[in-house]
Amino acid sequence: MKILFYDTKPYDEIAFNMGLKDYPEIEVEYLKADLNKHTAKAAEGYDAICAFVSSDLSAPVLDILAEKGVRLALLRCAGFNNVDRESASKNGITVLRVPGYSPEAIAEHAITLALAVNRKLHRAYVKVRDNNFALSGLTGINFYGKTAGIVGTGKIGAAMCRICQGFGMKVIAYDKYQNPSLDFVTYVDLDTIFAESDLISLHCPLTEETYHLINADSIKKIQKRPILVNTARGGIVDSEALIRGIRELKFFGVGLDVYEEEGGNVFENREDEILEHSIVSRLLSFPNVIVTSHQAFFTEEALHEISRITLENARGFENGAINEGNRVC
Ligand code: NAI
Repeated sequence: MKILFYDTKPYDEIAFNMGLKDYPEIEVEYLKADLNKHTAKAAEGYDAICAFVSSDLSAPVLDILAEKGVRLALLRCAGFNNVDRESASKNGITVLRVPGYSPEAIAEHAITLALAVNRKLHRAYVKVRDNNFALSGLTGINFYGKTAGIVGTGKIGAAMCRICQGFGMKVIAYDKYQNPSLDFVTYVDLDTIFAESDLISLHCPLTEETYHLINADSIKKIQKRPILVNTARGGIVDSEALIRGIRELKFFGVGLDVYEEEGGNVFENREDEILEHSIVSRLLSFPNVIVTSHQAFFTEEALHEISRITLENARGFENGAINEGNRVC
């Protein structure tokens, strides 16, 4: 099987080249360019493509891939909101993903953001480097005894619930389906999450239903000036409403690993450029906001698992033994 990788970074090549030793039947080519309607044409002669979070798997791109003979799209990530599933099925392209490579990696980054923004590590680091040893402006809150509100208690949300329990927090959660392994969690409705949480952490997928789940109305329901953390998908939070909410002092702190319009930025070094939109710069103008660039997954263990499961997905497809839990369509 020949696979064309899109949006490949040096760390992807290292992880996949190591993994490939166990898959002699698979041949790969790495492209730096991401998948879009121009680069899709390069897939001619390949059985499969491998794409990532910012890759464009919309109908026009899938049409080109199908025309070039691609039968399989391997997503080396969990989220699949960038895939037009109807078009993939219509074009006979199977889409497989990596649903649970290392939920703890993402949950640990979520709590890192929460703690960092709470104890203002981003400001403390700079102050001490400037020989400013004063503590003014650095007051945080204790997490112990506070309430964590977790939205989405699948694999990552469940890991986050366990971490918050470890901090001695009361854990409440909202999900469409309750996770029976979380017997220490109290399930509540969304309004209760907004009203009672000191920390709100988002771990649901981006769907039509969760698009702008955090919006002007939900922010109005917030009562305890919580810390908000989003490591799920940018579209779950309405950025304009969030910016207004931060200005109105609704949040003690905000930690974002994902944000709307991150597409052009994710994993790119754009330090010499003038950015075409101002969401990140406006967010970073606030002293109580920390933004990272979609790095929650980025641990050695996660990269290893992503490579192993992606290659296993390719082998399963070729042998007619797809792991159905990894199927997007
Ligand atoms: P999962 O599928 O195990 O869990 C998702 C949970 O969200 C499920 O329990 C589901 O019932 C719940 N859910 C679905 N619709 C909901 C709604 N309307 N309201 C509340 N809950 C809802 O997925 P997993 O592995 O925990 O991942 C969650 C999300 O995290 C992914 O969809 C992805 O977008 C994001 N992610 C972010 C990464 C990063 O590097 N920042 C890396 C990996 C995933």
